[in-house]
This record gives sequence, C-alpha cells and structure tokens, in this order.
Amino acid sequence: MLKKCLFPAAGYGTRFLPATKTMPKEMLPIVDKPLIQYGVEEAMEGGLSHMAVVTGRGKRAIPDYFDVSYELEHQIQGTEKEKKLAPIREIIDQCVFSFTRQKEMRGLGDAILTGETLIGNEPFAVVLADDLCVGNAKGVLSQMVDIYNQHKCSIVAIEEIPIDETDKYGVIAGDALAGNLYRVSNMVEKPHPSDAPSNLAIIGRYIFTPDIFDILRETPPGKNGEIQITDALYVQAKQGRVLGYKFSGRRFDCGSVEGFVSATNFFYENVYTP
Ligand code: G1P
Repeated sequence: MLKKCLFPAAGYGTRFLPATKTMPKEMLPIVDKPLIQYGVEEAMEGGLSHMAVVTGRGKRAIPDYFDVSYELEHQIQGTEKEKKLAPIREIIDQCVFSFTRQKEMRGLGDAILTGETLIGNEPFAVVLADDLCVGNAKGVLSQMVDIYNQHKCSIVAIEEIPIDETDKYGVIAGDALAGNLYRVSNMVEKPHPSDAPSNLAIIGRYIFTPDIFDILRETPPGKNGEIQITDALYVQAKQGRVLGYKFSGRRFDCGSVEGFVSATNFFYENVYTP
C-alpha cells in the first residue's frame, strides 16, 4: 500500500528572486496558502500520510510550517482568526513529516535518491509542488493511486503540450491502453521540438516502485549535467514497467510567474473563502 509521498524542495526558485532570496519558493502563497500545502493536501486526499521532504540550505521555514506554533496559537486562541489555522492543524495532526537535505544541486534524480533514507524499500509518490494540480472529480494523485493499485508499476502524470514547449519537460512516447493510459516506450528529458518523441509532457506527479533508487544510483548525469529522474524511469520503461496517465483536471505551472498569477486568480475566484 502507498503511504509515503516525497517532496523534492531543494531548488533555489531563481525565477522568483528577490522574493526567494530568504524564503523557500515552496512557501510562496497562492492566495493565503503556501504552494507546498496544496501538494500535501493532494497527497492526503490520495490516502498518503507520511510526507517526506528533501530540502536544502535556507529552507527552514518548511519544517517550521509543518510544526505546531504554540505562541501564535495561544495569541489567537478564542478569536475569529483561529479558524484560519484549522486546516494546517489538521495536516499536522494527521500526517508524519520527515526531512532531509540535499547536499548539492545535482538534479531531480539526485534529490529523489536523497529521499531514499526517508522512504525505504516501499513504493512512493512524488509531488513537485511547482506544478499545482486541480483534479476534476478527484485529486490527480488520488487518480494515480487508483491506477497504481491496479497495475503495481511506476506511473507518470502526462499532459499534451504545444510542441514548441517540449524543451521544458520530460517527454514520453507510448502505446495507448484503455482509459487515458499509455504504456511508456520512450522518454527524453527536455528534447528540442525536432527531437521530441511526442507532445506528451511529464507533469510533476509520479508514483515509483522502490527499485528506482538502485537505478538512480547507476544513472549518470544527463541533460544539463544533472541526474535526471526521466533517465532512470526510462530504464524501467524499457522493461514495460512505466505507465503514463493523462490526468483529468488542470495544472498550473507555478514555477513560472505567469502560471503563478493564473493559479492565484483561479484559487481566488473559485476556492478562496475569506
Ligand atoms: C522536472 C522534470 C521534467 C518534468 C518537470 C515537470 O523538470 O525534470 O521531466 O517534465 O519537472 O514539472 P523541471 O521543471 O524541474 O526543470
């Protein structure tokens, strides 16, 4: 059974400088809630309760956020403001959080391998908090957990993108199975549009079988000299052990200013309650 969700959160967030000079990009709020909290809530909806976070230098605000704040809670006790803290209190009560630090920025594959110490030898999900997903009937990770329970192999969330944007994503090729599922046969990290195997891009939601850690240990640096999770997954894909899932819902690329602003407008108009 899937219990654990890994959050790689070591990146610098340079696109949001100067705000990210002293604040982790994962803590930037979409309306009134930090980006990473949306990811944690999505994982909880999928039945996951152990949140494993790979952080780095300058990211202390993340572990502090997922901990009780006695002084603040005491200050606002009995006032209207108390209800604003109820959702994060519920998360703290229902989940276990663990943290480790990535020593050097060596790519997403290395960040995930750094998380092995928190995950151990069991299947796990990965959420890249930058990709903020809103599922239709169900959260995107919930949809993927259902697929994992049927197929017991690695799964990547995919989305159709304009072909001229393939160099921003991992891109897959695969054979269509039933129900928005593809058996992945090829995957390339950030290909030039002329080399892209399709326009199906990997979005920041994954489920992995634990042998991915052994594969990552053997994976040499790839695109941009970094250890790429896409390259490690391709090893499993060649054995027919990776599914691509075209999820039902919407994704905001909150790693870009435009996507961040769209997400803010969307959540303000459709979700926010003052
Ligand atoms: C990472 C992955 C890429 C994936 C993307 C999804 O890239 O390396 O394969 O498509 O996340 O957001 P990054 O956005 O960290 O450059």
